[in-house]
Amino acid sequence: MTVSPSPLAVENATLGYGRLAISEGLTVDVPDGEFTVIIGPNACGKSTLLKALARMLKPSAGRVLLDGRDIHSRSTRTVARRLGLLPQSPIAPDGITVADLVARGRYPHQGILRQWSARDEAVVAEAMEATDITDLASRSVDELSGGQRQRVWIAMVLAQQTPLLLLDEPTTYLDITHQIEVLDLCAKLHREGRTLVAVLHDLNQAARYATHLIAMRDGAVVAEGAPADIVTDDIVEKVFDLPCRIIEDPETATPLVIPRARPRDLG
Ligand SMILES: Nc1ncnc2c1ncn2[C@@H]1O[C@H](COP(=O)(O)OP(=O)(O)OP(=O)(O)O)[C@@H](O)[C@H]1O
Ligand SMILES: [Mg+2]
Repeated sequence: MTVSPSPLAVENATLGYGRLAISEGLTVDVPDGEFTVIIGPNACGKSTLLKALARMLKPSAGRVLLDGRDIHSRSTRTVARRLGLLPQSPIAPDGITVADLVARGRYPHQGILRQWSARDEAVVAEAMEATDITDLASRSVDELSGGQRQRVWIAMVLAQQTPLLLLDEPTTYLDITHQIEVLDLCAKLHREGRTLVAVLHDLNQAARYATHLIAMRDGAVVAEGAPADIVTDDIVEKVFDLPCRIIEDPETATPLVIPRARPRDLG
């Protein structure tokens, strides 16, 4: 079996904020063409890792490599054409409309000689259709519900049409139908050849959709591999301190996590 070189990797990095180190000596490979999902408890460093992968945070030691070269030696435009990031709490410019925000995803493709085109228009329309926000096009982003707003941001990242997609909790705020729609969309993009990295809190969804799973705790990778090998009672307890049983998902045969009942639940 030949293993493709990792398009994106963290190499022996220290990540943190000022003097606060969140991860030390962290090494993570984003496998090419896989749908990687990162799981782990609150504050363990998942978003910090994603920010480092997207060049939003510079390691104080070690490196982040994009296509084998230090990501901090690449231009903003080069990085923006290679990877799209959905941050955990994105902030929209005041008063911007949905259509204008999604259109910003096309900025990295524009230049002095390359103005807005019919192709840009079509890509934006397609991204809005895929995220079920076409009807919201002229609304102000400030006025939307949390779930509507989240889908607008996903559309913006899709409009960037990057081979690499980094999504920090793409399903937050979404009702169950929209959660599944967004994850199905991610799975489709993966089948079409994109490399995805998403942070998810729902372990059952992570087990269903990921082709590669990374479990983190206290800034470090505790386990990684195929979902069936990672979503086990031992690893879930080790990562989350949660006693649980694992049963087979009757729909997909992937692991399903059942938290152990506490004495009070049993009456
Ligand atoms: N801008 C910042 N300045 C200082 N500390 C920060 C900053 N952002 C995050 N931290 C701290 O870094 C640690 C890791 O945060 P991070 O956002 O990476 O966690 P996370 O795993 O994404 O958690 P969650 O599941 O809650 O999103 C936390 O202790 C957090 O308080
Ligand atoms: Mg986070």
